[in-house]
Order: sequence, then structure tokens, then C-alpha cells
Amino acid sequence: MVLSYTKGEIPDYQMSAMAMAICFVGLDDEETLELTLAMRDSGDSLDLSQIEGITADKHSTGGVGDKTTLTLAPVIACLGVPMAKMSGRGLGFTGGTIDKLECFPGFTAALDEETFIKNVNSLKLAVVSQTANLVPADKKLYALRDVTATVDQMSLIAGSIMSKKLASGSDIIVLDVKTGSGAFMKTLSEAQKLAETMVRIGIMARKKTAAVVTDMDQPLGNAVGNTLEVVEAIDALSGNGPKDFMEVVYALGSKILTLAGVSSNESEALHMMQKCIASGAAKQKFADFIAAQDGDASYVWDTEKFPKTSYALSVCAPREGYIKSVDAHGVGAACMRLGGGRETKDSPIDLSVGVYLKKKRGDYAKKGEPLAVVYANSETKGKSAVRQVQKAYQITDEKTKPVPMIKRIVDGVPK
Ligand code: URA
Repeated sequence: MVLSYTKGEIPDYQMSAMAMAICFVGLDDEETLELTLAMRDSGDSLDLSQIEGITADKHSTGGVGDKTTLTLAPVIACLGVPMAKMSGRGLGFTGGTIDKLECFPGFTAALDEETFIKNVNSLKLAVVSQTANLVPADKKLYALRDVTATVDQMSLIAGSIMSKKLASGSDIIVLDVKTGSGAFMKTLSEAQKLAETMVRIGIMARKKTAAVVTDMDQPLGNAVGNTLEVVEAIDALSGNGPKDFMEVVYALGSKILTLAGVSSNESEALHMMQKCIASGAAKQKFADFIAAQDGDASYVWDTEKFPKTSYALSVCAPREGYIKSVDAHGVGAACMRLGGGRETKDSPIDLSVGVYLKKKRGDYAKKGEPLAVVYANSETKGKSAVRQVQKAYQITDEKTKPVPMIKRIVDGVPK
């Protein structure tokens, strides 16, 4: 049915009835796997057999301020695990990994297969843009689900994500399933269920698969917006990453390194990653990767070179107190209003705008102290984003309890 639908032999009305039936009765694991494999096989798959070693891929279900791949991939590559990554451009609050990488003048992700494989073999890291014919069944089915209220079904979501990961060809798949106000999965129980479903599908498809459920109630790190996030990812590679962000990087990295057999346990993996950042090797790897894909790597060493916005507007605390929450959805929407995100796949994106959070959950602010800075290229949009970011902050008199970043870990290896 999936293949006939992709070819146009089955009409939309029948497929929407099928999607709605799945919403009503659900699919068991075997049915979800069949759906996933049929979707995977609806178009091109990447053939990574010419890559030496066990290849790894990482996927995030999406959130605000999520620049994890930019820091994680060079660290993992430095430790000898090939990261052959196929990425997309983002819809929504900020761009995707490729948009962020395009902050480096000249950078291209439009690599032919031969160059992609050659770069992964020599550098252990390359990022290529998704081909138009990667899982065409998902493109068609997702558009249909979007207009028939059938997006929100666990097996359909798992099938959609995992078909693309399986078509990308890596041996190891590590999933970052976000939960909270800025995430697709708003509750922990939904996020956990999605993580477990995707891990089971990955294992049934004979891939080493793990998922980490992470907090997305407030933005990840301090920077939201393409260039700001790139600079934060570089700071992290220089050993100055925000604590919450590094926790997510290390949790995902530990999973990849242990599944790849590079480390025997997670504390050893953590130590290896920290060492590789402290020595400067991970930052050098990132610069080499940018240069190998025609980007100007001098920006890695001098981030002041990135273009600045015309306006930098402070968001001030309306009262003193402890920051109870910073609504990720509100900050993401402000970034979108500034022009930092894309509403449709062809809309233009302003890489320089965004929001930098100076205060996060648990911090103390005096009245009038800057909570955040809005970077804008239009004064009107900037002022409107300032109001929106101010609304995202909740300030209380009581000290707030720390919230764990890593909520759940789900993993497994095929038998
Ligand atoms: N992301 C996807 O790629 N597919 C879904 O169905 C939902 C989120």
C-alpha cells in the first residue's frame, strides 16, 4: 500500500482512511516495522558499505536552541567513530543543521556520494543534504497526515523518523527525543513511549539503537538562532559550553561510543570526550570538516567574523526573583518572528538573528537586569520579539529546584 501510494496508484482518500484507522486501532511492533521498511524502500538509500568502521548517526526530534550535532559530531569523529550524517533544513523556529553550517561562507552540503564517502573515510565526518528522493513515501504521507489530523500517532511518527534513519544507512542510531514546551512530545510519558517504539523498531531492523529523552521545557544552552548557535557550539568545542547543553552532548556521545565498542562504559566515554575537547582536537576536527566542505574555517578560530545584526535589544527583568521557567516555545516563536526560522520549505531565513538567554531556570535576577538579548535586523520585529521573550520568563520568590536534563535512557543491541 505504501509503495502504491507513493507511485500515485492509491488515492489520498484511501490513504487518509488508512491513517485514521491506524490512529484508532494502533499498530503492533511488527506492523510498525513493516510500515517503516516499506517507507524506507520507497526511494533512495545511502550505501555506506565503503566506509571503514562502524558508522553512527544521531537524530533529534527537534527543539529550541538545539545545536547538539555541531558539537557532538566532531567529538565522536575525533574518537574514531565515522559520522556519516544526512541532514535537512529546518522548518519552524530555527534552521536545521545544514542552515547552521551554511553560516560559514562557502560551506556546501551538496556532496556527491563519492566525495561524501571519501570525506568520511579521511576525516570520519561529513554532512550531506537529504536527497529529494529519500523516503518519498514519508514526504507524501506526512503532508496527508498534516491535513487529516493523523500526525499524532506513535507508530506513524516512529515509522516516519525511523524510515529516514534506516535509509541513511548507519550501523548505530542514537535518538535525542525531546520533551517539554518546545518539543513535539509535550509530556514525558509520550516522549518515553516514542523513544521505546523507535528503539524497538531500530533493533528489529538490526541496527544498534538507543534513545535519550531530554528536557526541552526551556531552550537548550543560551543561544537560539543560527549564527548564535554556531558560536555557542564552537565555544563548547573550546571547553566553554553551557552545562545543560554539555550534559545532552555527553549523554548522546556516551551512547554512541559504547554502542560502537570504543568505550566499555559511560564514565570512560565521558572522560574520552572531555579529553578530546580539552586537547583542542575536537575543535580542530570541526575546522577541518568545515574546510573539507568548502567552508571558510577561519570563522572557527575567530567567531567575531560572523556578521552582526543591526540591533541588539535587552529584555529586562520586570521584577526581582528566581527564574522559574523560560518557555522554550515562546523563545522559539520570538526567533521565528525575527526571521530566524522558516515557515515553508522555500521561505528565506536570516542566519544572523536570534535570542541569547543570559538567565535560565534557577538563576536569580534583580529588577531591570537583562534576562536576554534579542538580535534583530528590524527594529519593529526586534521590539515585538523583546515582548515575546519577556513573556516567556516566569519569575518567583522561591528558589527553584534543578530539573534533570536527561529524563530517560532507552537502549538495545540486535540479538
Ligand atoms: N518528525 C518526523 O520526521 N515525522 C513525524 O511524523 C513527526 C515528527
